[in-house]
Amino acid sequence: MKDQITANLSWDEWDELQRPAPETTDFDRVVEAAMSRRGFLRGVVAFGSGAAAMGLLNTTSAQAQAASRFAFTPIDAQTDFTIHVPEGYNWQVVTRWGDPLFSDAEGFDPETGISTAGQARAFGENTDGMELFNIGGREVICVNHEYANADINLPAASEGVPASADEVMLLQNNQGVSVMEITKGANGWKVVLDSPLNRRITHNNPMMITGPAAGHDLLKTEADPEGTTVLGTMNNCGAGRTPWGTYLTCEENFNGYFGSTDEAFERPEAFARYGIGLEGRYAYEKFDARFDLSVNPNEPNRFGYIVEIDPSNPDSMPAKRTALGRFKHENAAVVLAADGRPVVYLGDDERGEFLYKFVGATPYSQGGDTSGLLDEGQLYVAKFAEDGTGQWLALTPEATGMDAAMIAIHTRMAASAVGATTMDRPEWVAVNPVAIEAYCALTNNSRRAVMTDAGTLRTNAGGEEMELNAVNPRAANNYGQIVRWRPDADDHAADTFAWDLYVMAGNPAVHSDAYAGSPNVTPGNMFNSPDGMMFDASGMLWIQTDGDDSNEGDYAGMGNNQMLVGDPATGEIARFLTGPNGCEVTGMTFASDRRTIFIGIQHPGGTFPSEAGLPRSCVVAISRDDGAIIG
Ligand code: FEO
Ligand code: CA
Ligand code: CA
Repeated sequence: MKDQITANLSWDEWDELQRPAPETTDFDRVVEAAMSRRGFLRGVVAFGSGAAAMGLLNTTSAQAQAASRFAFTPIDAQTDFTIHVPEGYNWQVVTRWGDPLFSDAEGFDPETGISTAGQARAFGENTDGMELFNIGGREVICVNHEYANADINLPAASEGVPASADEVMLLQNNQGVSVMEITKGANGWKVVLDSPLNRRITHNNPMMITGPAAGHDLLKTEADPEGTTVLGTMNNCGAGRTPWGTYLTCEENFNGYFGSTDEAFERPEAFARYGIGLEGRYAYEKFDARFDLSVNPNEPNRFGYIVEIDPSNPDSMPAKRTALGRFKHENAAVVLAADGRPVVYLGDDERGEFLYKFVGATPYSQGGDTSGLLDEGQLYVAKFAEDGTGQWLALTPEATGMDAAMIAIHTRMAASAVGATTMDRPEWVAVNPVAIEAYCALTNNSRRAVMTDAGTLRTNAGGEEMELNAVNPRAANNYGQIVRWRPDADDHAADTFAWDLYVMAGNPAVHSDAYAGSPNVTPGNMFNSPDGMMFDASGMLWIQTDGDDSNEGDYAGMGNNQMLVGDPATGEIARFLTGPNGCEVTGMTFASDRRTIFIGIQHPGGTFPSEAGLPRSCVVAISRDDGAIIG
């Protein structure tokens, strides 16, 4: 029974179940308690007036309407099991879980799914971050497969978890990354079967480990005594792209894949900070010794990184770039500093964890050697001040008391050592291409400024109290907000910045206090839990949600998860798309001609996108009926 329940949990909920706090975990009770504590609400009110003084959130929707740059009529919230887009736009499914990349892939059965061998040659499950590259005139899309839905992917498994080595391998094959050539014909976009650029990357492809952690004792295993080569990538959440044409896939909830067949196994101290427990979500440890901590205690230290993949060479070995730190990586937003050095913004998606930035040591030059650009540089973590300024704190040996390898492996502890600001779950970062600024979605944090029964504040996994702060100003924050920052000297390499909140999500139909959201949230565009974010070439911000789609209570009127567009200049936000009930809308990239947007529909409910059978995560193409450029 427990397994059947856990099969349907989000990763956040699953983590909660693995390490329940000794106090209450009942969400409603926690919210109610926080709301009645006037001391916490005072902080929110103070933020409201302070925001006005700083000129934040000062755009009314009426002002915004007058200057609208939206090329569509916003749509209403929906609660059904299909996709809606504005009038004048259309959508089609490009590929679904189980659809072949190669003609030798065994077929998908709508009732029973796909075989283990077939899955290794077919599109995976739970689409997430994606990027499209034009390689020699071919349109090649890289798509993450974040995790498995054991109850759907193994419909015959009564307990909702694998019960054999073959079932474990089936799940391992439906995660990772798909690299596929796609083409547009008379019937729309489709995968080019057997393209020489097609590739499936799973938990089992060899990858090199580079950067400061490579070869460290904590990364050595019996199978890899050098600590420099690892099999596979997992929980590939958001994505990124480099100016030199590579794909970055980001390992998020890697902790959930490990367990111990020996209940007496004593976990190293650092496992607690990363949430590595004795029971894995998919029972890998029972059938694949690599994931059994009592046999391979160092294997988890080889996950939680940014992985660089060259989509132009299907034989290239992916590289785990440890200089970018180890945590629950959301996405990797790359931009060049004024002098050409790569800057990578990185979120760690867990309650009370941090926002990071990597600045490379060497400028990128077109045609130059790019193989080491993400291996040498400085990692920083963000500290936000109440006055709207902020600092990037360098994670150096001097500042942290840790050497370079330990900073790369135990990055969370290094960030705690320098006093980083605890955040409300940093999800995607997006960099504006037409202004020197970046945005981060802080999706929600049910524990922010919530007290334990013992009368102390709830903490992050490192024991740091999550008090209110200006950038995370709401207790029991179930709606989320988007913060943006402008680096000083107009240079993303600068170690200081100015920040404000672009939006605080909320429900103005239900609440009249801070939980109504900022003025640019209205009953007509409201949403919760911003997550995926990308800019288009014109500088409009596309926002995707992964929140509560019950359409009840605090969420009444918000409907299904959705995609909205925000105008950074006016603050206006308009709803562009609604997904099928049950889904998360996540991942987005453009065709080279910018006449098609590709998005991911992750874990849809019902039978989407078919009329019957198992629901299937999929990539969807959206175009204008008149074929014009979008964004
Ligand atoms: Fe995979 Fe934090 O979303
Ligand atoms: Ca996400
Ligand atoms: Ca999320």
